[in-house]
Amino acid sequence: MTAFYLTTPIYYVNDRPHLGHAYTTIVADAMVRYRRLAGDDVWLLTGTDEHGDKIAQAAAKAGVTPQALADQNSAAFRETWRALGISHSDFIRTTEERHRKVVLAILQKLWDAGEIYLGKYGGHYCFGCERFYTEKEIVDGKCPDHQTALQWIEEENYFFKMSKYQGWLIDHIERHPDFVRPERYRNEVLGFLRDPLTDLSISRPRRRLEWGIPLPFDDKYVTYVWFDALINYVSALGGPGDPRFEKFWPHVQHVIAKDIVKPHAIYWPCMLKAAGIPLYQHLNVHGYWTLGGQKISKSVGNLVEALALKEKYGNDAFRYFVLREMVFGLDADFSEEAFVGRLNADLANDLGNLVSRVTTLIANIGGRVPATAGDYAPGGDYALGEDLAQAFETSRAAIDLAMAEFAFHRALATIWNFIGSVNRYLDTTAPWAPVMNDRAQGIRDHALYSVAQSLWCLGLLLEPFLPEAAGKIRHALGHAGTPQLSDAQWGRLMPGTPIQKLSGLFPRIVAAKDTVSLGGKEAATVAKAPRIKIDEFGKIELRVAEVVAAEPLPRSKKLLKLTVSLGEEQRTLVAGIAEHYTPAELVGKKVVVVANLEPAKLMGVESNGMVLAASSAGKLAVLTPDRDLPPGSKVT
Ligand code: MSP
Repeated sequence: MTAFYLTTPIYYVNDRPHLGHAYTTIVADAMVRYRRLAGDDVWLLTGTDEHGDKIAQAAAKAGVTPQALADQNSAAFRETWRALGISHSDFIRTTEERHRKVVLAILQKLWDAGEIYLGKYGGHYCFGCERFYTEKEIVDGKCPDHQTALQWIEEENYFFKMSKYQGWLIDHIERHPDFVRPERYRNEVLGFLRDPLTDLSISRPRRRLEWGIPLPFDDKYVTYVWFDALINYVSALGGPGDPRFEKFWPHVQHVIAKDIVKPHAIYWPCMLKAAGIPLYQHLNVHGYWTLGGQKISKSVGNLVEALALKEKYGNDAFRYFVLREMVFGLDADFSEEAFVGRLNADLANDLGNLVSRVTTLIANIGGRVPATAGDYAPGGDYALGEDLAQAFETSRAAIDLAMAEFAFHRALATIWNFIGSVNRYLDTTAPWAPVMNDRAQGIRDHALYSVAQSLWCLGLLLEPFLPEAAGKIRHALGHAGTPQLSDAQWGRLMPGTPIQKLSGLFPRIVAAKDTVSLGGKEAATVAKAPRIKIDEFGKIELRVAEVVAAEPLPRSKKLLKLTVSLGEEQRTLVAGIAEHYTPAELVGKKVVVVANLEPAKLMGVESNGMVLAASSAGKLAVLTPDRDLPPGSKVT
């Protein structure tokens, strides 16, 4: 079993959790879920960064003690990760004793080794970033991040001899090309390192700042917050010598965004080297979320609102959107419109419909996965099934590769390519058509087996990205126990396995602007219709029906023959929707029907009811309930 240790940044407790923090944490969660699925022994660390000027100032402003502010906001982060289903192993707070102990031990070790000295320093300081800026980094006399004026500060402080590690660090980065990745950030770091590296001021005088860990060798100073914070990655494992540290530290990787590359790629490796602790394996750096294309500073309420969309659309949809939309390493723009677009297209349509169609089709032939005699000769009856199995193998390898590089967007694009192949295979093999002979039944059974096997694999592959939906898919396929990637194999699904119908996995979202259509024309039409009494309306029996089979009517361009289930009863209906829907699109859909209409014969077929549909300007849409309800449910 390989150990795997992943960390998120520890977030400042002066902010509420928002989209940016959530993205990093979701990315880390998806990664550890993937590694867990692959059988690794995983440790995921997150937490809060609670010391320093920034927190002290925010607390003073709020009229509370820094500890009270930290307690309150740290709890908000913890609660947000719980609500998002983050599977972290530990949550560290830098005000905890277990952390302070390790920080003190490392400081003492560096002091004893002569790695720290007392010196004088003057520089341009940003209180927001808690750091000094070099002349080169300053933009128009302001902090490039906060766009606020910098203050010139001169004081005696303790310094860590970072400059002496410059040559060694450049060499390390050159020898380990993916130490910092993607490449653009490695280049950025090598760019910083072209200028002389200065020593790092690691203390703040207590007369200016009380809120920090006092230096063990001079209690007139507290530790600089970055020096304190970075050590959380080590202290959370108990520090060198602790069995947990010894087990996980050799496999550590960090995830951060581009705003904190310098402390992680320069200070941290030098600190580790000086303390005699091995370096991390990879620093994985992602870009920034923007809203409406605008560059955003660190504390913007809209980012909090963006995160609140998880409550409106669900955790899985939120995870999917952010993981799929952002190319890891580059900036991406967040909008509710883009979110709903992907939810409808990728989740409701491509995935949700597929799951519903496959489980319904199998339910219709008795609810068990059919057996298939695998004759996969090229050009033979089952050749398409073989292509699908091949498409799966190819995707499987590509997902592994993408995940090894933290390319979540690519992993998901690959899975959706496979979902596309399964949908096309289903449309081509059409295993809902009536079977007339043994050969046709063999072909149909093989098709149903292949699509069910595809769902089985998806129930596993999707676990890191859509944990709730993947669990439901596995449950529908009777796949109990701990999911394992090694079970995502063609042939693992046993013929005869009972399947439960699963529809409404991701209900389609109808945008508000589409539902409010009482503008001009429609409103006039509504007004013109004769008014009826409620008891007249009560005569119409409307029910939810599930389409279990659909086929075109020969000699008719417009009509489809549908078999629908009303729960206890199945019926045949004829619907004039062939120009708007293919039979395949309808199977598994829940529609609304008039159930007490007198039977009528259409093109020789008796129709027992009517499917409700809305139309406008040549477009037609059948009505479906926007939540999953059992067939037969009354519409009132
Ligand atoms: N406390 C330090 C980190 C110390 S780690 C030893 C800190 N905290 S922070 O609260 O400001 O969090 C910064 C991190 O939050 C970023 O690196 C990133 O992970 C996440 N994000 C904050 N805003 C973001 C965006 N707009 N977009 C993407 N991620 C961003 O820095």
